[in-house]
Amino acid sequence: MQNAGIAALGLNWRYLAFDVRPEELRPAIEGARAMRFIGLNLTVPHKLLACELVDELDESARTWGAVNTIRFEARDDSGQWRPLAEFEELPETDRILARGFNTDADAIVRALREDLGLDVRGRRVVLLGAGGAGRTAALRLAAEGVADLWLVNRTAAKAEALAAEIRQRHPDTQVRLGYPGQGSVDLLLNATSLGLRPDDPLPVDLNRFPLPSATAVYDMIYQPAETPLLAAAKAAGCRTANGLGMLLYQGVRALELWTGRPGPVETMRAALEAHIYGQRPPASA
Ligand code: ATR
Repeated sequence: MQNAGIAALGLNWRYLAFDVRPEELRPAIEGARAMRFIGLNLTVPHKLLACELVDELDESARTWGAVNTIRFEARDDSGQWRPLAEFEELPETDRILARGFNTDADAIVRALREDLGLDVRGRRVVLLGAGGAGRTAALRLAAEGVADLWLVNRTAAKAEALAAEIRQRHPDTQVRLGYPGQGSVDLLLNATSLGLRPDDPLPVDLNRFPLPSATAVYDMIYQPAETPLLAAAKAAGCRTANGLGMLLYQGVRALELWTGRPGPVETMRAALEAHIYGQRPPASA
């Protein structure tokens, strides 16, 4: 996705993947700085530790407590920090700063809007999962103005801690634990890992939450393209989308941060779909 985006922007850059052990994250970031990398993406399990290893946290990383994107910057002649991409000559290493961003959280909101046509402000949402992905989703949805949020998690203590955090940071969102007793909701969002493996049970208890009570169902999982939850939701008449959009939009935003230019979304989407599915996935309902 990134190499397709980079090529579409006419840049002679390359995006490469490296396996880095957590205990070597610091020297890995220092090596990238020394080699004048434009930036980095980080994924599990590095996103929390990276907060302590970068020089500056952008507001997005401070707000969501995790870094998935680093941009290397240097001071220009007037003393302003600028992305390395803007420099024609390589600056001295000791003048290069690593700035941490989070592009995951906004990608959730964008995916819901663009892939499901859903603006979550004022809406009723059931969220499955209170791990790393669930926490970011819950806080971002509350920040976006979700009116009612139900948190469901196997380990109740994690959902309780998350509910307490939301009540403190976003008191306008009504947070409850468990399923809504009655009435319909606008969105059921799966942020658990259930559905990744073929023998996984559904992440939702259908006896307590029949799928027709959700207008739309979003599954953060994108492989398989249609999880059993999404198949059941489609059969129940819900609008559905998988997590590919989240993956896409966090990457588009990262490329925009590195280049300062609008990301070529459709080129990047096509590359992502070709890479993950080998072809375009079945269209969402
Ligand atoms: P991520 O960063 O992807 O969110 P995580 O923090 O390990 O990963 O969270 C995984 C989520 O899937 C959690 O909500 C987890 O529930 P627990 O908090 O109870 O661990 C949920 N999950 C994973 N396996 C599960 C299972 N077999 N049944 C129910 N929930 C499960």
